[in-house]
Amino acid sequence: MNVTIDGLSLHYEVSGTGSPIILVHGFPLSSELWNPIVPALEREYRLIVPDLRGHGRSEASLTATMARYADDLAALLDRIGETRPVVLVGMSMGGYISFEFYRRHRDRVRALVLANTRAQADDPGAARDRRELARRVEREGNAPVVENMIPRLFGPRASRQLRNEWHGILAATRPEGIVAALEAMAERPDSFPTLASVTCPVLIVAGEEDTLTPLTDARRMQKAAPHSQLEVIPGSGHMSPVENSAAFLAVLRRFLEELPSGRV
Ligand code: MLT
Repeated sequence: MNVTIDGLSLHYEVSGTGSPIILVHGFPLSSELWNPIVPALEREYRLIVPDLRGHGRSEASLTATMARYADDLAALLDRIGETRPVVLVGMSMGGYISFEFYRRHRDRVRALVLANTRAQADDPGAARDRRELARRVEREGNAPVVENMIPRLFGPRASRQLRNEWHGILAATRPEGIVAALEAMAERPDSFPTLASVTCPVLIVAGEEDTLTPLTDARRMQKAAPHSQLEVIPGSGHMSPVENSAAFLAVLRRFLEELPSGRV
C-alpha cells in the first residue's frame, strides 16, 4: 500500500491483528528485511512494515534527517489509525530513527527493540567518510555503496544466495535516497543520553559476527539503558533478521510475551 506523506508516496504493508509493532529497516535496505519474521508474528500482532523514504518502493527526497524519517513513521501511524503505543523495532539506521522517534513521540512507544545498531554518533572521521561517499554516489550512482556495503553486511556463514538477493535490493535503491540517508546519518546526534532516559522496556539485539555494529556497541547500549536486556544472535553478521531469522524471531517473541500489557 502507499500513502502520501510530506508530498512523497511512501510504501508500507500492514498485516495481522493484535497489539501494534512497527518494523523499521536499515540502510540502504528495504522492508524485505522483515519477510522471514512477518508470517510468524502476524498471527498475534498488527505488523506495520514501511519502506523508509528513498528506500524500497518509497519515493525519495533530496534531503533527509533522522527527525524527518521519525515523523514519517508517526504520520504513517496516524494515517492507518494506529493510536496505541507501538513496539518499535529498529535495525541499524532503523535504530538511529527509533532513538529520534522516542525523543519526538515517546508517548507512542510501548517498547523499543534496537537491533544491530549503536547509540553513539559518528566521530568526525566517520562523518567525513559518509559525506565523501555521498558525493561519489552523486557522481557515479549507487555502485560505490553497493560494493562497499555487501561484504560488510553479512557474517562469514551467510549463503551466496542471500548475498545475491540483497545485492539486487541494494542495487535497486535510488541514489537520491542513499545520498539523503548518508547525510542524515552523518548528522545524527549521540543517543546515549536518550538511552539513559528511556522508561519503557528495551531489547538490544546484536549479531555475534557483526562487524558494522559490533557486540561491543551493543554492550555499551545495554549498560546505558536501565530497562534493557541484550540478546546475541549466533552465527549472524549485521543482517540478523535474515541471517538467523529463527533466533531473531525467538528473542523478539520472548521479549514481546514478557511485556507488561497495561498500556495497550
Ligand atoms: C545500516 O545498516 O543501517 C547502516 O549500516 C548503519 C550505518 O552505516 O551506520
